[in-house]
Amino acid sequence: MNNKFATKLINNGNDKCKFTGALSVPIYQASTFHQEDIDNSPEFEYSRSGNPTRKALEETITYLEGAERGFAFSSGMAAIASVLTIFSAGDHIIASQDIYGGTYRVSTSIFNRLNIDVSFVNTNNLEAIENGIRNNTRALFLETPSNPLFRITDIKKASEIAKKHNLITIIDNTFMTPYLQRPIELGVDVVIHSATKFLGGHSDVIGGVVAVKGETLANRVYTIQNSFGAILGPLDSWLLLRGIKTLKVRLDYQQKNAVKLAHWFREQPEIKNVYYPGLEGHDGYEIHRNQADGPGAVLSIETVDREITRRFLKKIKLAAVAVSLGGIETIASYPYKMSHGSMPKHVKEELGINDRIIRFSAGLEDCDDLIEDFKQALRG
Ligand SMILES: Cc1ncc(COP(=O)(O)O)c(C=O)c1O
Repeated sequence: MNNKFATKLINNGNDKCKFTGALSVPIYQASTFHQEDIDNSPEFEYSRSGNPTRKALEETITYLEGAERGFAFSSGMAAIASVLTIFSAGDHIIASQDIYGGTYRVSTSIFNRLNIDVSFVNTNNLEAIENGIRNNTRALFLETPSNPLFRITDIKKASEIAKKHNLITIIDNTFMTPYLQRPIELGVDVVIHSATKFLGGHSDVIGGVVAVKGETLANRVYTIQNSFGAILGPLDSWLLLRGIKTLKVRLDYQQKNAVKLAHWFREQPEIKNVYYPGLEGHDGYEIHRNQADGPGAVLSIETVDREITRRFLKKIKLAAVAVSLGGIETIASYPYKMSHGSMPKHVKEELGINDRIIRFSAGLEDCDDLIEDFKQALRG
């Protein structure tokens, strides 16, 4: 049955206990499993290799992304680093230039030491992707919309280029979630999420998930998950399963708030730029509209003056000033020092990530209250 997304969140085969009918998958808080017959390996033998609660989450993300198999890791970064570990010394990867700061750091401070070379190109420019491909290029790593400036890459066209050159296409789909963007339908092979964000949705768990198209590729990721062992624990897997059930209602409301905030910010004299794929005129607006079902609940503003940015972050009362996004509460973050703090200053400046930018993840508050609060914080 081809159910709609809201139904899939609730009816996905992992919404009930198979043994008792309980409307919640049990938390199998166990490291190991009794083996009746040592000649025949049971499905679960040791929780690094497989755990029933984690499996329920892995199957859920597989289903929602339309993939063949899914894997859950102890953080979004553990998921990203584990996926990059399927490559070997001498391999080259092309990545979007304004990728999440942690992905930039792991690539430039760890994988480069292992002789896996990641080069950063402007993936919104398809020609730049094509020109960046070398004989040893093995993968294309995309993030769209990018963070914090929401640059848009055409997923379908970029993965067509990758296919033509036998590259694996990987995407960080954290900002969109499978509700708004399903990259596998557009030709992507591996979808990664920081599940810490919208999938968990309550700012109470750190986790990462990966959905893979194709058994051969999935086996490569499983080998790393089992060998490297950066797995998600049973309680955290359960928290993500619970969070995912309300993904659509949360994101619908949060997205509405984000749209309202983006339009309001655009009218304020203290604001120079609003970056949000839901605003007509945003670079890549049409491409995003064609490949995603909504602009999401995260936006950035650039004030006219660094002092206004600093004052705003000091004076806001209704939004937390914090790293992260995707929770039920509105979060204001300062990418220059937070998500992109690990990028060298000159790289940030080249990319336009300056010290006047504030990124907002819209929460579930009443937007009128947020606007009142933001008004007083802007005006000081
Ligand atoms: C787009 C994106 N990818 C990956 C990560 C890393 O995820 P985690 O913090 O769960 O390790 C983050 C975290 O902020 C992110 O925003």
